Amino acid sequence: MNVILLGAPGAGKGTQAVRLAEKYNIPHISTGDIFRSNIKGQTPIGIVAKSYIDKGQLVPDEVTIQIVKERLEKEDCKNGYLLDGFPRTVSQAEALDTFSKVEAVVNVDVPLGKLLKRITGRRVCGKCGESYHVDYLNGKTDCAKCGAELIQRADDNEVTVASRLEVYEKQTAPLIEYYAQKGVLLTVDGDGDIEKVFNSICEKLG
Ligand code: AP5
Ligand code: MG
Ligand code: ZN
Repeated sequence: MNVILLGAPGAGKGTQAVRLAEKYNIPHISTGDIFRSNIKGQTPIGIVAKSYIDKGQLVPDEVTIQIVKERLEKEDCKNGYLLDGFPRTVSQAEALDTFSKVEAVVNVDVPLGKLLKRITGRRVCGKCGESYHVDYLNGKTDCAKCGAELIQRADDNEVTVASRLEVYEKQTAPLIEYYAQKGVLLTVDGDGDIEKVFNSICEKLG
Protein backbone atom coordinates (compact mmCIF):
# COMPACT_ATOMS: atom_id res chain seq x y z
CA MET A 1 0.00 0.00 0.00
CA ASN A 2 1.43 3.38 -1.07
CA VAL A 3 0.14 5.94 1.41
CA ILE A 4 0.70 9.65 1.99
CA LEU A 5 -0.01 11.41 5.28
CA LEU A 6 -1.02 14.99 4.63
CA GLY A 7 -1.57 17.59 7.33
CA ALA A 8 -0.47 20.91 8.76
CA PRO A 9 2.59 21.19 11.02
CA GLY A 10 1.64 19.61 14.35
CA ALA A 11 -1.39 17.76 12.96
CA GLY A 12 0.02 14.46 14.23
CA LYS A 13 1.52 13.01 11.03
CA GLY A 14 4.64 11.71 12.76
CA THR A 15 2.71 10.38 15.75
CA GLN A 16 0.30 8.42 13.53
CA ALA A 17 2.97 7.36 11.02
CA VAL A 18 4.97 5.45 13.63
CA ARG A 19 1.86 3.46 14.59
CA LEU A 20 0.64 2.91 11.02
CA ALA A 21 4.05 1.74 9.80
CA GLU A 22 4.04 -0.90 12.51
CA LYS A 23 0.48 -2.04 11.81
CA TYR A 24 0.78 -2.22 8.02
CA ASN A 25 4.44 -3.26 8.05
CA ILE A 26 5.58 -0.59 5.61
CA PRO A 27 8.47 1.89 6.02
CA HIS A 28 7.76 5.32 7.51
CA ILE A 29 9.51 7.91 5.36
CA SER A 30 9.57 11.42 6.83
CA THR A 31 11.40 14.05 4.78
CA GLY A 32 11.63 16.19 7.93
CA ASP A 33 13.41 13.31 9.76
CA ILE A 34 15.72 12.77 6.77
CA PHE A 35 16.68 16.46 6.80
CA ARG A 36 17.19 16.49 10.58
CA SER A 37 19.50 13.49 10.43
CA ASN A 38 21.47 15.17 7.62
CA ILE A 39 21.71 18.34 9.72
CA LYS A 40 23.01 16.32 12.65
CA GLY A 41 25.60 14.66 10.41
CA GLN A 42 26.52 18.04 8.82
CA THR A 43 26.20 16.59 5.30
CA PRO A 44 25.94 18.89 2.22
CA ILE A 45 22.16 18.24 2.12
CA GLY A 46 21.95 19.03 5.84
CA ILE A 47 23.75 22.34 5.39
CA VAL A 48 21.36 23.42 2.61
CA ALA A 49 18.27 22.13 4.46
CA LYS A 50 19.15 23.87 7.72
CA SER A 51 19.13 27.32 6.11
CA TYR A 52 15.49 26.81 5.04
CA ILE A 53 14.18 24.82 8.02
CA ASP A 54 15.47 27.41 10.53
CA LYS A 55 13.31 30.02 8.76
CA GLY A 56 10.27 27.76 8.53
CA GLN A 57 10.52 27.66 4.74
CA LEU A 58 10.46 24.66 2.43
CA VAL A 59 13.67 23.07 1.23
CA PRO A 60 13.83 23.51 -2.59
CA ASP A 61 11.81 20.97 -4.59
CA GLU A 62 14.74 19.66 -6.61
CA VAL A 63 16.63 18.65 -3.45
CA THR A 64 13.61 17.07 -1.78
CA ILE A 65 12.25 15.22 -4.83
CA GLN A 66 15.60 13.54 -5.54
CA ILE A 67 15.88 12.31 -1.94
CA VAL A 68 12.41 10.75 -2.03
CA LYS A 69 12.89 9.24 -5.48
CA GLU A 70 16.05 7.46 -4.32
CA ARG A 71 14.44 6.36 -1.06
CA LEU A 72 11.41 4.81 -2.80
CA GLU A 73 13.72 2.74 -5.03
CA LYS A 74 14.98 0.84 -1.98
CA GLU A 75 14.00 -2.80 -1.51
CA ASP A 76 11.90 -2.17 1.64
CA CYS A 77 9.43 -0.03 -0.36
CA LYS A 78 8.42 -2.76 -2.77
CA ASN A 79 5.30 -3.66 -0.74
CA GLY A 80 4.41 -0.06 -0.04
CA TYR A 81 5.43 2.98 1.96
CA LEU A 82 4.06 5.67 4.22
CA LEU A 83 5.19 9.17 3.28
CA ASP A 84 5.07 11.77 6.08
CA GLY A 85 5.69 15.38 5.01
CA PHE A 86 6.06 14.69 1.30
CA PRO A 87 4.71 15.91 -1.07
CA ARG A 88 4.30 19.45 0.23
CA THR A 89 3.95 21.36 -3.04
CA VAL A 90 2.02 20.66 -6.23
CA SER A 91 5.34 20.27 -8.10
CA GLN A 92 6.44 17.59 -5.62
CA ALA A 93 3.11 15.78 -6.10
CA GLU A 94 3.43 15.93 -9.88
CA ALA A 95 6.98 14.61 -9.69
CA LEU A 96 5.90 11.77 -7.38
CA ASP A 97 3.24 10.77 -9.93
CA THR A 98 6.01 10.19 -12.47
CA PHE A 99 7.86 7.62 -10.36
CA SER A 100 5.26 6.02 -8.09
CA LYS A 101 1.55 5.29 -7.89
CA VAL A 102 -0.12 6.88 -4.87
CA GLU A 103 -3.01 4.73 -3.60
CA ALA A 104 -4.31 6.65 -0.59
CA VAL A 105 -3.79 10.13 0.84
CA VAL A 106 -4.86 10.59 4.44
CA ASN A 107 -5.50 14.22 5.34
CA VAL A 108 -5.22 14.62 9.12
CA ASP A 109 -7.45 17.60 9.77
CA VAL A 110 -6.85 19.69 12.91
CA PRO A 111 -8.19 23.23 13.51
CA LEU A 112 -5.47 25.83 13.00
CA GLY A 113 -5.92 27.26 16.51
CA LYS A 114 -4.81 23.97 18.14
CA LEU A 115 -1.61 23.51 16.16
CA LEU A 116 0.55 26.15 17.86
CA LYS A 117 0.04 24.62 21.31
CA ARG A 118 0.76 21.14 20.02
CA ILE A 119 4.00 22.20 18.37
CA THR A 120 5.44 24.46 21.05
CA GLY A 121 4.71 21.77 23.69
CA ARG A 122 6.25 18.96 21.65
CA ARG A 123 9.30 17.06 22.89
CA VAL A 124 10.94 14.40 20.73
CA CYS A 125 13.21 11.50 21.52
CA GLY A 126 16.71 12.27 20.25
CA LYS A 127 17.27 8.57 19.55
CA CYS A 128 14.08 6.84 18.31
CA GLY A 129 12.12 9.93 17.24
CA GLU A 130 8.94 9.28 19.26
CA SER A 131 6.92 12.50 19.85
CA TYR A 132 5.52 13.57 23.21
CA HIS A 133 3.69 16.60 24.54
CA VAL A 134 4.67 18.35 27.79
CA ASP A 135 1.03 18.25 28.94
CA TYR A 136 1.22 14.45 29.21
CA LEU A 137 4.84 14.00 30.31
CA ASN A 138 4.26 14.81 34.01
CA GLY A 139 7.72 16.35 34.18
CA LYS A 140 9.49 13.31 32.66
CA THR A 141 12.49 14.13 30.48
CA ASP A 142 13.30 10.72 29.00
CA CYS A 143 11.69 8.54 26.32
CA ALA A 144 9.18 5.93 27.52
CA LYS A 145 10.14 3.69 24.59
CA CYS A 146 13.95 3.71 24.66
CA GLY A 147 15.04 5.77 27.68
CA ALA A 148 16.97 8.41 25.68
CA GLU A 149 16.74 12.11 26.48
CA LEU A 150 13.83 14.16 25.09
CA ILE A 151 14.69 17.32 23.19
CA GLN A 152 12.84 20.25 21.66
CA ARG A 153 13.16 20.67 17.89
CA ALA A 154 15.02 23.84 16.82
CA ASP A 155 12.09 24.85 14.56
CA ASP A 156 9.47 24.43 17.31
CA ASN A 157 9.55 28.05 18.46
CA GLU A 158 6.68 30.52 17.96
CA VAL A 159 8.38 32.62 15.27
CA THR A 160 9.33 29.67 13.03
CA VAL A 161 5.98 27.97 13.61
CA ALA A 162 4.10 31.05 12.37
CA SER A 163 6.08 30.89 9.15
CA ARG A 164 5.59 27.08 8.83
CA LEU A 165 1.81 27.49 9.17
CA GLU A 166 1.77 30.23 6.55
CA VAL A 167 3.83 28.11 4.16
CA TYR A 168 1.44 25.20 4.76
CA GLU A 169 -1.61 27.30 3.84
CA LYS A 170 -0.04 28.68 0.68
CA GLN A 171 1.97 25.77 -0.68
CA THR A 172 0.70 22.52 0.86
CA ALA A 173 -3.05 22.96 1.43
CA PRO A 174 -3.69 23.01 -2.37
CA LEU A 175 -2.71 19.31 -2.36
CA ILE A 176 -6.02 18.49 -0.65
CA GLU A 177 -7.83 19.50 -3.83
CA TYR A 178 -5.14 17.90 -6.02
CA TYR A 179 -5.69 14.48 -4.46
CA ALA A 180 -9.48 14.88 -4.08
CA GLN A 181 -9.64 15.28 -7.86
CA LYS A 182 -7.66 12.07 -8.29
CA GLY A 183 -10.19 10.28 -6.05
CA VAL A 184 -7.63 9.06 -3.48
CA LEU A 185 -8.25 11.55 -0.65
CA LEU A 186 -9.40 10.29 2.77
CA THR A 187 -10.07 12.96 5.39
CA VAL A 188 -9.78 12.12 9.06
CA ASP A 189 -10.68 14.29 12.04
CA GLY A 190 -7.32 14.75 13.77
CA ASP A 191 -8.74 16.59 16.74
CA GLY A 192 -9.35 13.58 18.99
CA ASP A 193 -6.98 11.62 21.20
CA ILE A 194 -4.14 9.72 19.51
CA GLU A 195 -5.86 6.30 19.71
CA LYS A 196 -9.11 7.66 18.30
CA VAL A 197 -7.36 9.31 15.36
CA PHE A 198 -5.38 6.10 14.74
CA ASN A 199 -8.57 4.03 14.67
CA SER A 200 -10.29 6.39 12.22
CA ILE A 201 -7.30 6.24 9.88
CA CYS A 202 -7.22 2.42 9.99
CA GLU A 203 -10.96 2.29 9.33
CA LYS A 204 -10.60 4.50 6.26
CA LEU A 205 -7.58 2.62 4.94
CA GLY A 206 -9.37 -0.70 5.43
P1 AP5 B 1 8.45 18.13 9.27
O1 AP5 B 1 9.38 17.47 10.17
O2 AP5 B 1 7.65 17.33 8.32
O3 AP5 B 1 7.49 19.06 10.15
P2 AP5 B 1 5.96 19.55 9.96
O4 AP5 B 1 5.27 19.22 8.70
O5 AP5 B 1 6.02 20.98 10.33
O6 AP5 B 1 5.19 18.69 10.88
P3 AP5 B 1 5.53 18.32 12.34
O7 AP5 B 1 6.57 17.26 12.39
O8 AP5 B 1 5.80 19.59 13.10
O9 AP5 B 1 4.13 17.80 12.84
P4 AP5 B 1 3.48 16.36 12.81
O10 AP5 B 1 2.25 16.45 11.97
O11 AP5 B 1 4.47 15.29 12.48
O12 AP5 B 1 3.03 16.27 14.32
P5 AP5 B 1 3.47 15.30 15.52
O13 AP5 B 1 2.97 13.94 15.29
O14 AP5 B 1 4.91 15.45 15.86
O15 AP5 B 1 9.24 19.23 8.42
C1 AP5 B 1 10.13 20.13 9.04
C2 AP5 B 1 10.74 21.06 8.02
O16 AP5 B 1 11.50 20.30 7.05
C3 AP5 B 1 9.74 21.86 7.16
O17 AP5 B 1 9.35 23.06 7.80
C4 AP5 B 1 10.55 22.10 5.89
O18 AP5 B 1 11.44 23.17 6.06
C5 AP5 B 1 11.36 20.82 5.73
N1 AP5 B 1 10.66 19.83 4.89
C6 AP5 B 1 10.15 18.62 5.27
N2 AP5 B 1 9.55 17.99 4.24
C7 AP5 B 1 9.69 18.82 3.16
C8 AP5 B 1 9.25 18.77 1.82
N3 AP5 B 1 8.55 17.71 1.36
N4 AP5 B 1 9.57 19.80 0.99
C9 AP5 B 1 10.26 20.84 1.43
N5 AP5 B 1 10.69 20.98 2.70
C10 AP5 B 1 10.40 19.99 3.57
O19 AP5 B 1 2.59 15.94 16.69
C11 AP5 B 1 2.80 17.28 17.15
C12 AP5 B 1 2.57 17.37 18.67
O20 AP5 B 1 1.18 17.12 18.94
C13 AP5 B 1 3.36 16.37 19.51
O21 AP5 B 1 3.70 16.98 20.72
C14 AP5 B 1 2.36 15.22 19.74
O22 AP5 B 1 2.63 14.53 20.94
C15 AP5 B 1 1.03 15.99 19.80
N6 AP5 B 1 -0.10 15.20 19.28
C16 AP5 B 1 -0.10 14.40 18.18
N7 AP5 B 1 -1.34 13.86 17.99
C17 AP5 B 1 -2.11 14.37 18.99
C18 AP5 B 1 -3.49 14.19 19.34
N8 AP5 B 1 -4.32 13.41 18.60
N9 AP5 B 1 -3.96 14.87 20.42
C19 AP5 B 1 -3.15 15.67 21.15
N10 AP5 B 1 -1.85 15.85 20.88
C20 AP5 B 1 -1.33 15.23 19.82
MG1 MG C 1 6.51 15.26 11.99
ZN1 ZN D 1 13.10 6.98 22.22
